[in-house]
Amino acid sequence: MCGIIGILGKADVAPMLLTTLKRLEYRGYDSAGVVVINDGSMQTRRAVGKLEALEMALKAAPLQGNSGIGHTRWATHGAPTEANAHPHRAGKVAVVHNGIIENFQPLREELLAKGHQFASETDSEVVAHLVMRAMDQGQSPAQAVASTLARLEGAFALAFLFDGEDDLMIGARRGSPLAIGHGEGEMYLGSDAMALAPVTSRITYLEEGDWVVLTRNSQQIYDALGNGVSRPEVMVNVDAMQVDKGNHRHFMTKEIFEQPSVMALALSHYLSPDHSQIHVPGGAPDFTRFDRLVLVACGTAYYACHVAKYWFEQMARIPVEIDVASEFRYRAPPIGRRDMVIVVSQSGETADTLAALHYVKGKAGQVVAIINATESSIAREADLALPIKAGVEVSVASSKAFTCQLTVFAALAILAARQRGELDAAGEKAQIAKLVHTPRLLDEALKAEPQMAAAARELAKARDILFLGRGPLYPLALEGALKLKELSYIHAEGYASGELKHGPIALIDERVPVICFAPVDALFDKTVSNMQEVMARGGKVLLVSDAKGIARAGKGTWAQLEMPECDPFIAPIIYAIPAQLLAYHTATEKGTDVDQPRNLAKSVTVE
Ligand code: M6R
Repeated sequence: MCGIIGILGKADVAPMLLTTLKRLEYRGYDSAGVVVINDGSMQTRRAVGKLEALEMALKAAPLQGNSGIGHTRWATHGAPTEANAHPHRAGKVAVVHNGIIENFQPLREELLAKGHQFASETDSEVVAHLVMRAMDQGQSPAQAVASTLARLEGAFALAFLFDGEDDLMIGARRGSPLAIGHGEGEMYLGSDAMALAPVTSRITYLEEGDWVVLTRNSQQIYDALGNGVSRPEVMVNVDAMQVDKGNHRHFMTKEIFEQPSVMALALSHYLSPDHSQIHVPGGAPDFTRFDRLVLVACGTAYYACHVAKYWFEQMARIPVEIDVASEFRYRAPPIGRRDMVIVVSQSGETADTLAALHYVKGKAGQVVAIINATESSIAREADLALPIKAGVEVSVASSKAFTCQLTVFAALAILAARQRGELDAAGEKAQIAKLVHTPRLLDEALKAEPQMAAAARELAKARDILFLGRGPLYPLALEGALKLKELSYIHAEGYASGELKHGPIALIDERVPVICFAPVDALFDKTVSNMQEVMARGGKVLLVSDAKGIARAGKGTWAQLEMPECDPFIAPIIYAIPAQLLAYHTATEKGTDVDQPRNLAKSVTVE
């Protein structure tokens, strides 16, 4: 996955390529590059590392010209080196690519046999060579792109420029998103509307298999069969896409501390003004039509599904299946009209989740998306898209999106329970009353930050860390471990507290901190027993609980973190705060790159 941009402009495009690429850095940040056409001929600058490196390269050797394409990379084929950075060039052709060309190896061998020489190890470079070869055989740029697309397997969004063609840019998409931006006598291509926000709010989304020939004043879109088609132009809300860190050192802390306010916003979206009913603007899903819910997502969004499984099953008595999107699609599970499938994604562009959505469309009774990016592919392709209202999330590690996903799920679980007769009107109101307390309780939980920072100073010394939780706190243990791994690079695992004795307890010794999420609930004593089993083996327990829990079970633990007392229903939302802040402070203690951890990207647009 990578970010791509293209501009046919009226002034020098290099500065604007950089500005727009910065908004795509969430897609990858291991190398970047641009090609600009100056006096009819293409010139390239590429650099390894984040965009600042490319910025420096452009300062040292500026590029002039009004047409250009740019790319920020997350390496798939070939290490993050300058030679592997995009744009790739072959003869008169330059290309930037997001996705994976799955048949690149046979194509490359075929081209090598015909005398082509490659400058990189990437899958993408074959695309430039195929187009160049077709042009050398007399095809126009558009014909050459069309014949090349027919030979490609896999997923891609592509943007092409051509030597000597200052007013021509060609784009194509299959499996990866690509949008056209319309300016006044200017034309743009971008991986998403957010990248194009500094230059335009007039967007045309290409559909699966589309490709487009652009000049400054025209566009001709073709579908996968080569038929000319028209796609609607839409206005996107550009203001909502402006982002900064405020007074925070990192986007991650800004986003963690925003949670009480964005959650209040999410709640007001899904509650009636008097807080007596769940209200879904635009039409509520009807849970009486379904025998089963199937929840599919990746990473943190998957853990939100895992919590939701407990809520739907306990409150609404409806069976729930959950799966990670990358497995779901390939195990080809039976899906029928009595299934509602809910896909969850912050970015709305995660390739695995999008593929899962494609798999269930036409099979499931309804496909619902719980989504942050409302202009994304997943939002547009689902039968019903429910916004989480978290606002733009920049930090690669997800925080506020998680708690807002949980908020939407909590509202839907109450709604399902009410519709299916498991809750009466008073019961619905009582559950809502618990939810309404979450912003205040999140605020209280955030006040324990200094204690979390102190604990993190110790955690940062560990090589392995375990997280434990029971019931709906089990997914929080998994989320805590994921956050810690991706931010601090310390190995961490989450386990169901009761499962530890079935094997993982062999890992316990005095060097392995064990973080135990244990609010006082119906399972508290059982969790405490599991904690005792750890301490009996020399394990160093950090107990995360409320005042009563700490009074009852804090003795003998290495440290305690006090969370506000809360109803067990909303505990998974409140305990997200220690899961996030322990990871954050451990990472800052270790000096890792919190907002852009190594090897990761915010939006994972390859399978
Ligand atoms: O954009 P999505 O919610 O679909 O992303 C899913 C995962 O890639 C994402 O949650 C990832 O696990 C985060 N880095 C976790 O912090």
